[in-house]
Amino acid sequence: MNNAMPIAREHVQNGPLKLVQTKELPNPDTAVVAVLGLGYVGLPLMVGFADAARTIGFDIDEARVEALTRGEDPTEMATRDELLKENMEYTCDINTLRDADVLVVCVPTPVMQGNRPDYRPVLAATKTIGQNMKPGCVVVFESTVDPGTTENKCIPVLEEVSGMQEGVDFYVGYSPERVSPGEKMRRVGDIAKIVAGSTPEVTDFLEVLYSRVVKAGLFKATSIKVAEAAKILENTQRDVNIALINEMMQLFDAMDIKVTDVVAAAGSKWNFHKYFPGLVGGHCISVDPFFLLNAGRSQGLSMEMVASARAVNERTAHYISDKVHEMLDEEAHNLQGKRVLVLGRAFKDNCPDIRNSKSFAVMDSLWSRGADVFSYDPIADDTHFEGGRGAKVIDDIEAEGPYDAVVVTAKHDCFVEEIDLIKLASVLQRGAPVVDLRGLFDESIAKLQFKYWTP
Ligand SMILES: NC(=O)c1ccc[n+]([C@@H]2O[C@H](COP(=O)([O-])OP(=O)(O)OC[C@H]3O[C@@H](n4cnc5c(N)ncnc54)[C@H](O)[C@@H]3O)[C@@H](O)[C@H]2O)c1
Repeated sequence: MNNAMPIAREHVQNGPLKLVQTKELPNPDTAVVAVLGLGYVGLPLMVGFADAARTIGFDIDEARVEALTRGEDPTEMATRDELLKENMEYTCDINTLRDADVLVVCVPTPVMQGNRPDYRPVLAATKTIGQNMKPGCVVVFESTVDPGTTENKCIPVLEEVSGMQEGVDFYVGYSPERVSPGEKMRRVGDIAKIVAGSTPEVTDFLEVLYSRVVKAGLFKATSIKVAEAAKILENTQRDVNIALINEMMQLFDAMDIKVTDVVAAAGSKWNFHKYFPGLVGGHCISVDPFFLLNAGRSQGLSMEMVASARAVNERTAHYISDKVHEMLDEEAHNLQGKRVLVLGRAFKDNCPDIRNSKSFAVMDSLWSRGADVFSYDPIADDTHFEGGRGAKVIDDIEAEGPYDAVVVTAKHDCFVEEIDLIKLASVLQRGAPVVDLRGLFDESIAKLQFKYWTP
């Protein structure tokens, strides 16, 4: 590709037309990339970019930067060898960002109380860039946001803080991330990626830049807003589809029909899409729809389907706690003082992340009904553990047994290896219910041995 922007272009500034010299784009094959935010998204991206050139990893979390510098990553998104390879440079020093040709923003986009989008981390990172970027650089946002955020919120901050002008002195793009922590066979390079720049030239630049990392193909979106909207639609679609199956689970359960049998049967039709019930947590699928709801509100739209899906998925944790309650022995139809083992603290299978895990909602619901709750998850990264109300974190299920009930909220490989039905029987009271939301155990055998439910 031709890296250079047009040498000069017509530009309107306060009325009169004048020719403005635009900065040349960097060479995408050798550009020094700085990644801001070294979490689940930023770190693997940084590893990918470092194959070709110096790569700067910037994070405000000093402990995280120190751990990465030592070659340690509790999120398990990169190996020690990858973390310590040449070209990888970790820092909390904002001045280092001045060396970057490309700055990629991978900071969180959570929701605040009331599920209102929290743009503060993105805007803080944007401000940091504005203070430290060099002319001619390209700023790419990867954080998930509602359409219009890059152009309406971030570019104005960059321009105001730097005193430079987008499209003239620097350039902007958006490229949503699709990595899925826990899915080790689908790493960042294996997943097709969307890119969009503020101009077609910037989009072309991003296509070449990201081909350094992504081998599965790049999709050039027609605009930054389209790229932003595509990401949030992907996640919202998943939320809505899972909500439908969670709702069906409740109806079919009441009618003594297994929802997974229904999905298998319906799935024999060519255009039926298979989804399975589950707890929707983490900081993507259960959060991003709120950005869309907020966007809808600003357009005077109530977005009923998106809002209902969120409500259904939030309620599913209580349904699981209801299930335990219902399955306890007739006389003991009461959770007061019952010892309940919950397998899984992480928000999904094989992922250490516990933030916004709905396993905590299950535990809270059990606890609030009087149960003593024991939480077992050897892979959970408890760095940010804020505690489920009353749940006791254990590292040996045998030490605290026997239990009056067990709930499985994650199907980690380590559970499959470590907890078979014999071990389960050894830690459960006779007749204790097993609520296996994730299908950890073989149903055909488990139901002969236990009071067993799986959706
Ligand atoms: N985790 C996923 O599966 C996933 C997938 C696709 C997209 N996303 C999106 O990507 C974005 C990042 O998510 P994540 O899971 O990597 O988050 P994360 O919490 O794992 O990591 C974010 C990192 O950013 C750092 N940070 C916060 N503010 C900063 C600032 N001002 N400057 C520099 N660093 C800062 C934090 O210290 C943290 O290390 C979010 O918008 C998320 O929605 C996440």
